[in-house]
Amino acid sequence: MNEKMQRLAALRAAALQERDPTASDDVLAVLLQQAERICAQRVLEIGTGRGLTAVALLLGGAAHVTAIERDGARIVSARENFASFGVADRVRLLEGDAADILPCLQGEYDLIFLDCAKVQYRRFLPDCKRLLRAGGVLCADDVSLFADGVPKKRKMLAQHIGEFLQALQADADFCVRVLPVGKGLAVARKGEGI
Ligand SMILES: C[S@@+](CC[C@H](N)C(=O)[O-])C[C@H]1O[C@@H](n2cnc3c(N)ncnc32)[C@H](O)[C@@H]1O
Repeated sequence: MNEKMQRLAALRAAALQERDPTASDDVLAVLLQQAERICAQRVLEIGTGRGLTAVALLLGGAAHVTAIERDGARIVSARENFASFGVADRVRLLEGDAADILPCLQGEYDLIFLDCAKVQYRRFLPDCKRLLRAGGVLCADDVSLFADGVPKKRKMLAQHIGEFLQALQADADFCVRVLPVGKGLAVARKGEGI
């Protein structure tokens, strides 16, 4: 493992230990696999946190990441991480709420990682579909969050996630699998079988 990979692994381990949100190891492994399989060059990450997954995808071979994040402290941290890993010139970090940013985005992405507030997944699905190239892959994290039961206070959230999954699976343009990694990762390939 080279120096950057070692440093990233240490940052990721610290983040996971401190419950600072970043993709779990098995989710990241699937993202990297998918990216490699479809030769993903252009990636969109909705909810980029401190940028650790974006850095991993860039070090793994993606050419460019468009990253969306609304939390001020995480934006600062993401910018520091992009600079310190030497990938800042391959990232466009869009600051603000994805609800405002996504409808204005143009272009085509090979891979989209949907990892923001789960309550918004359903709302963001049409823009994800519009922005994904044919044969591209949408990965949505935490879709099995309540597989073991829904606490009373999380019923609305569980309903939103359920509606997102239902809409995704009912869309004939997507071929969808939900993988048992992290808290459930939906992997949806647009236009072709996965
Ligand atoms: C699970 S964390 C992202 C972790 C990151 N994808 C990674 O793997 O390292 C979710 C992030 O999404 C951000 N977020 C949630 N809803 C958002 C929205 N509507 N627009 C922009 N950012 C959002 C939160 O501030 C948080 O930093």
